[in-house]
Amino acid sequence: MSQGPAEELPPAPEVAREFFGASFSAAQRYGELLADVGVRRGLIGPREVPRLWERHLLNCAVLGELVPEGVTVCDVGSGAGLPGIPLALVRPDLRITLLEPLLRRTTFLQEVVEVLGLEHVTVVRGRAEEVLGTLPPVQVVTARAVAPLDRLAGWGVPLLRPYGEMLAIKGDTAAEELKGARAALHKLGVVDTSVIQVGAGVVDPQATIVRAEVGESPGGVRFAAKRAKAAKTARGKRRRQR
Ligand SMILES: C[S@@+](CC[C@H](N)C(=O)[O-])C[C@H]1O[C@@H](n2cnc3c(N)ncnc32)[C@H](O)[C@@H]1O
Repeated sequence: MSQGPAEELPPAPEVAREFFGASFSAAQRYGELLADVGVRRGLIGPREVPRLWERHLLNCAVLGELVPEGVTVCDVGSGAGLPGIPLALVRPDLRITLLEPLLRRTTFLQEVVEVLGLEHVTVVRGRAEEVLGTLPPVQVVTARAVAPLDRLAGWGVPLLRPYGEMLAIKGDTAAEELKGARAALHKLGVVDTSVIQVGAGVVDPQATIVRAEVGESPGGVRFAAKRAKAAKTARGKRRRQR
């Protein structure tokens, strides 16, 4: 007897067809994978399925409004691919790394990348603080639901190149969280912060993003030394493997 999907992806709202445009079928396929394999493997709760389009696919894809043309992006704690996969679907000009420590999740991410043919997306298994110095620094770090802002910044900001930015999808408490994290962000070399609403006419309510821009020393002095040490270790390891 053939087994049906664990859950059915609801029909797409008209706005999803318009917003994803040429990538709409790929977005639909991703939604189906989340609703079926994602639920079956415990990567997403079954209760999320009815709101996959609005709360997950579209809410993440609208982050693309803030990402500059043609840059490198690292989605920290990508989980089942959010926001990294929807961002990749609407922005084929970007080079995106999905960073995730759990094997069950990176296996799913790799499958999604292959099924959707996302050649501009790479999956890396690891914790942000552990890959520091081994991943090339990126222009933009994205994240959703990974950790409170101060802790997330400690993981994400050191992965940035000078003058890069971290874009964190946050809820209603974004401004408050930012206020509490300001000192920690400053120590990490963040020179400017803002709370921005994106997705007007696409998602309601709009998505709230915390943007943290760094100056010439992402992560501050402490992380510069840590990054240099990790890069040296990685170079030594590569040499020994040759
Ligand atoms: C609640 S999930 C959110 C997943 C996804 N971003 C989303 O919005 O659906 C948090 C994810 O962060 C990952 N994570 C936790 N600590 C991490 C770290 N230090 N570096 C990278 N990822 C981490 C977890 O494995 C998990 O997949």
